[in-house]
Amino acid sequence: MKTRTTGRVLTMVFALGASVTSVAANGGGVAPSANEYRNSCAVCHGDDGRGDGNLVNFLNVKPTDLTKLTENNHGEFPFLRVFQVIDGRSMVSGHGTRDMPVWGKRYVEEMGESYGPYGGEAAVRARVLDLVYYIQSIQN
Ligand code: HEC
Repeated sequence: MKTRTTGRVLTMVFALGASVTSVAANGGGVAPSANEYRNSCAVCHGDDGRGDGNLVNFLNVKPTDLTKLTENNHGEFPFLRVFQVIDGRSMVSGHGTRDMPVWGKRYVEEMGESYGPYGGEAAVRARVLDLVYYIQSIQN
């Protein structure tokens, strides 16, 4: 019973954290997560997001140029698609193997242990959301 309550409180704290993050990012007041990008994404997508990271030659599929997502989507940033691609857990895998890692799964494994199943999920979403805002900020 006690752990359940703790889990619920944590969920609320993280859900709140996620909405605060999004409000702040929308207002442009807080620097989006450049560090997370550099640590987890730059090896494939390149330091500037142009799809020219160090691992490029070892991949079957060329990493997407992340600075051109808006340009290639009729001038509108494909927010939801980017969120879903990064999270990755809800994508169908009908097109052969996916070279892009499934971050949602990784983050849940990493954070589920500290935050519990519900808190972990909220924390994962906040982390993915942060990356989406970062990618939005590097559009050409
Ligand atoms: C191991 C290499 C690798 C890493 C690391 C990687 N990606 Fe990717 N990513 C790819 C490849 C390859 C694609 C092209 C699509 C595919 O494989 O299906 C891709 C596609 C994408 C897309 C799809 C763009 C579109 O067309 O909608 C987004 C967004 C993206 N990656 C974001 C990220 C973010 C954010 C990170 C870090 C958390 C990351 N990637 C880390 C290899 C990688």
